[in-house]
Amino acid sequence: FVPKSLAGRRVLITAGPTFEAIDPVRGITNLSSGRMGYAVARAARQAGAAVTLVSGPVGFPVPQGVDRINVRSALDMHAAVMARAAQSDIFIAVAAVADYRVANAAEHKLKKDHGGVPAIELIENPDILAEVAALPDGPFCVGFAAESRNLEDYAQAKRRKKNIPLIAGNLIQDGFGGDDNRLVLFDDNGSHPLTPASKEVLARQLIEHVVKLTGKQ
Ligand code: C5P
Repeated sequence: FVPKSLAGRRVLITAGPTFEAIDPVRGITNLSSGRMGYAVARAARQAGAAVTLVSGPVGFPVPQGVDRINVRSALDMHAAVMARAAQSDIFIAVAAVADYRVANAAEHKLKKDHGGVPAIELIENPDILAEVAALPDGPFCVGFAAESRNLEDYAQAKRRKKNIPLIAGNLIQDGFGGDDNRLVLFDDNGSHPLTPASKEVLARQLIEHVVKLTGKQ
């Protein structure tokens, strides 16, 4: 691991879940501890980058030397990322963004005794990673794919659909919520399985791979 390999580069990272309100006390979310994204932020910082971490609701403190922006919903995350993407050299999307938000979110708490079972209408959230990848002269983009099966097919399909050079795939049963994970990196040269390890170690290996693909500045 080379400590100065990202010196002078600006790295933007998303981490954690998003939370989509149904009413002031209820919502829809994804299971994501934020551990992998926070580990990636620490690894990028240790490699000398200026790191901005756009974080959904998780309980972790701000990693040392990292500029954190707290967001809640996918729309908040989208706005925070799009305001900074053009000034970034590398964008690593680790967040588990909710694919849908509630179209008819209630201003006041829904009451059980009013009108039966509430109907929740969903509308699609923007795909933050795909939008950043489509920016002219945008940053080098890295995605994550958490799958429950067919990891290689699904991860490579996502990489092509979002038009990004690198995606890190993992099986949900290998990494969810825990400290360890098993990652496979997919790029134009095919697949690079990493030895199962802590998220800390894997994050450093991911950063090394990004350094290799983006070259020295
Ligand atoms: O589209 P899907 O969720 O399968 O792809 C996962 C990758 O895309 C992750 O890197 C995730 O952070 C990113 N993503 C995003 N915005 C979304 C959905 C996913 O940035 N709305």
